[in-house]
Order: sequence, then C-alpha cells, then structure tokens
Amino acid sequence: MKDPYVEKAKQMNYRCRSAFKLLEIDNKFHIIRPGEVILDIGAAPGSWTQVAVERANLSVFNKKFKGVIISVDVLPFEPIAGATALIRADITKLETVEKIKGLLGPRLANCILSDMAPNATGIKHLDHDSITNLCYHVLKLSSLISEDGGNILMKAWDGGNISKLEKEILKTYEIVRRIKPKSSRQDSAEIYLLGQHFKRQHVL
Ligand SMILES: C[S@@+](CC[C@H](N)C(=O)[O-])C[C@H]1O[C@@H](n2cnc3c(N)ncnc32)[C@H](O)[C@@H]1O
Repeated sequence: MKDPYVEKAKQMNYRCRSAFKLLEIDNKFHIIRPGEVILDIGAAPGSWTQVAVERANLSVFNKKFKGVIISVDVLPFEPIAGATALIRADITKLETVEKIKGLLGPRLANCILSDMAPNATGIKHLDHDSITNLCYHVLKLSSLISEDGGNILMKAWDGGNISKLEKEILKTYEIVRRIKPKSSRQDSAEIYLLGQHFKRQHVL
C-alpha cells in the first residue's frame, strides 16, 4: 500500500513525510509563529526545518517577519535556505550546547523542537530509555535558552518513563500534552510531548 504522506511530501517538496506531523501539531497548537526563534534538534534530513522556515519567516498584514531557525543533527544534511545548520553536532555534548548558545547570542528560543530518534536496538525497554534520555537533554537545554512563554515539542516512544517525564516538563512549562498525530504511523510507539508556556521563574 502506498503511504499517502510519502506521496504528499514529494508533491509539496518536503524532504520526508515527518513534515506532516509538525504541520498537524502546529495547525492545532500554533507553536511556531512569524518572527520567532526556533531550534530544531534531530533535524536531518530537514522537513521540520522546512516547516519552521515557512512558518517563522512570513509576511503577515504586509509586514515581513524573519525568524531565526537553527537546525542541529549528529548527521550531515543539505542546508535549508533561511535556517542555520549545525551538523555533526550531538545534543548530548556540552560543546553542541555552547555552539547553540553562541548562535543565539542575546536571543532566547521561542520554540524548541526535537524529533530526535536514537539508533534503535529493537529491545523495547532499552530504546525507550535511550529516547527518554535524549528528551531529558533537550529539557535541560530548554531551561538555559527558552524565552518566557515558549514551547517545547519532543518525540518520545510510549512506555513506562513518560509519566515521570511529563511531570518534569510541568516543572517549567504550564501545560503538557501527549499527542499522537494522525500522520504518525499508528502501529508505532511514537508519541509527541508538548510543553506550553515556559516559566523562567520556575528554573532552579
Ligand atoms: C526521525 S529523524 C528526524 C527527522 C526530521 N525531523 C525531519 O523532519 O527531517 C531523527 C534524527 O535525530 C538525529 N539524532 C539522534 N540522536 C541525536 C543526537 N544525540 N544529537 C543530534 N541529533 C540526533 C538522527 O541523526 C536523525 O537524523
């Protein structure tokens, strides 16, 4: 059976079908706004960055908004016009965090996206732990670089760690949501955790 999202991605020039997961979530929750600073972690091959560029760099009511989009991945990928690519950069390494801070300068991030997936072993609980660990790295980073009121969206694989992770998100974000987009393969454990309204005064 042909995957309709693969076909649609080709037609719309998105680098992969993942674009539709972000489009679906953003259409509902409006986490990427014109002129904002967006960090896309685990960005290769780049379809989320394409969506972020489209939505953060926009003309609204005759005013032009130009956002700042930074895309990070351990793998190399073709740069996307309108975004800065940080390639061969592992988010779990301090040097990557420093590079991101350097690129941001005095700005803070309005939205942090992570569609990162570790290399899966096929052993469910190990893979669940690995992706949860990546989420904690992203959450820790968010405390350093998020703008008040900002949002965070992270891919996870459903399992026993999720409730605790949601509680951790709620320490610095007002709302947490567990989302399974229609465009996410229904037979996969993939879910997304969305934290909304970052509260800087809650950072310890
Ligand atoms: C599912 S893909 C992302 C797809 C992307 N959102 C898109 O729309 O094109 C997951 C990505 O996470 C990256 N990744 C995994 N671990 C990482 C890490 N520690 N630091 C940075 N990127 C990582 C992988 O290299 C891979 O490219």
